[in-house]
Amino acid sequence: MTYRAYVFDAYGTLFDVHSAVARHADLVGPNAARVSDIWRLKQLEYSWTRSGMGRYRDFWVLTGEALDFALSAVPEANAAVRETLMQAYATLDCYAEVPGALEMLKAKGAKLAILSNGSPAMLESAVQSAGIENLLDDVFSVDTVEIFKTSPKTYAMVTDAYGIAPGEVSFQSSNRWDVAGATAFGFDCRWINRTGQPDEYRDLPPVEILGDLNGLLKIPA
Ligand code: LAC
Repeated sequence: MTYRAYVFDAYGTLFDVHSAVARHADLVGPNAARVSDIWRLKQLEYSWTRSGMGRYRDFWVLTGEALDFALSAVPEANAAVRETLMQAYATLDCYAEVPGALEMLKAKGAKLAILSNGSPAMLESAVQSAGIENLLDDVFSVDTVEIFKTSPKTYAMVTDAYGIAPGEVSFQSSNRWDVAGATAFGFDCRWINRTGQPDEYRDLPPVEILGDLNGLLKIPA
């Protein structure tokens, strides 16, 4: 199978969502890792509930609301660190192998793109701070369709833009729920299981499970 496009989820797949709190762990306080976990889980929960309700609000706003909840839910956390953490979220670290793997994939001649729940501004900031803007053909934000993954409308942004079939796309995500949604849409999905999570959504399996993006380099061009 020769893919016409390699499409990547952003948060958790290219960018380390826990690097914001990790950078400022001393300021956040003793339960910093718990703040980071609750922040991420609430951010995602808000995306799903708002999609279900048909009450879209952009992902940067949801990220702030989720952080407010996390800082309130962990009493030892220092709430004064809110703006510092939001700033850090706008400039998350990318995983170490990302630039090199994207560069090698680009040489195969396929399109390389991000498809993310992130707002255009937060994605632009993250892509620039990771220094990968020249490796990407497109950054698709669900903000255009005002609904979050796993709505098929979000995955269709890619096939509509490129005029290709879902099966011509290799989609990479570290989020198993995103892999399920994209598989249901018809993409060939690679689950980037960076942290050894157990499998779920077993009726919607990925075509491959990889530890990081370097595993993509074995796909024949
Ligand atoms: C994204 C989040 C959900 O980038 O990881 O779409």
